[in-house]
Amino acid sequence: MTRKVTKAVFPVAGLGTRFLPATKSIPKEILTLVDRPLIQYAIDEARAAGITEFIFVTARGKSALEDYFDAAPWLETSLAEAGKTELLETLKNTTMPSGAIAYIRQHQALGLGHAVWCARRLIGDEPFAVILPDDVIAAEVPCLQQMVEAHAETGGNMVAAMEVPADRISAYGVLDVGAEKGRLLRTRGMVEKPGADQAPSRYAVIGRYILTPQILSNLGTMKTGAGGEIQLTDAIAEEIRVSGNVYGYLFDGERFDCGSKGGFLKATIAFALQRDDLRDELMDFLSQITQGVRIAAE
Ligand code: UTP
Repeated sequence: MTRKVTKAVFPVAGLGTRFLPATKSIPKEILTLVDRPLIQYAIDEARAAGITEFIFVTARGKSALEDYFDAAPWLETSLAEAGKTELLETLKNTTMPSGAIAYIRQHQALGLGHAVWCARRLIGDEPFAVILPDDVIAAEVPCLQQMVEAHAETGGNMVAAMEVPADRISAYGVLDVGAEKGRLLRTRGMVEKPGADQAPSRYAVIGRYILTPQILSNLGTMKTGAGGEIQLTDAIAEEIRVSGNVYGYLFDGERFDCGSKGGFLKATIAFALQRDDLRDELMDFLSQITQGVRIAAE
């Protein structure tokens, strides 16, 4: 039987240069979509998938992330005294049971693969999930939950995949696929950021993975790859070569690339439009501004 996935790694040690100067002092993962930081979306998705141990790979300057998951007794007391029970409830989702969360440091930003490898001792000898909080996925059934359910049948390694237009494919890790069965793709290879004419398919890998400990062993022997970084893609590609035991999973949902400014803005608008308290105001604003009406600030 396939072992249940209960641990997730959140690599959050990147420099976040695309959001400078904001990320000079604020971790990218604390930037908010409407009123929740990116990391909260990632944690909620992991919880829905049955994850009970949360491993953060952090770096210098990311202490705001650690504080975010701490209890805030003074704040809770003052909300309770003011009778603000709804806000108190919202705050509860941000705290973790003692011992459920662990932080490990990546001392140098040597790449995503290296960040995951830094967590190897906390992961141990069991399958684990990796969630990149930059990729926010709006879905009826949260993306990682879809994958965990599929993984219970397949075992092995699984990467989230989506089809992207040919002119965008070179921005992604790309799968070379064999047989397709429903949402499952058999893989024959995986390449990081191929030239548009070299891409083996239009199936891009995005930031959700379920991996076996063998990937950690592969990472331990990896040399730097594309961009001078230790690439997770290379360790997965090696696994495809050696065991063939890697599936692509075409998730159901809409993914926003919140690591880029354009993607972050689109997600902000899409999530705000889902909110009863904001929709009408935002719709009015968007229709006026797109018709060139000048709007005086309130
Ligand atoms: P990105 O490629 O988006 O890099 O990393 P970045 O540093 O976060 O952002 P930019 O490109 O400079 O704007 C993808 C994910 O991998 C993590 C990042 O934190 C992000 O979640 N990562 C990347 C690490 O944890 N360590 C690294 O050395 C590199």
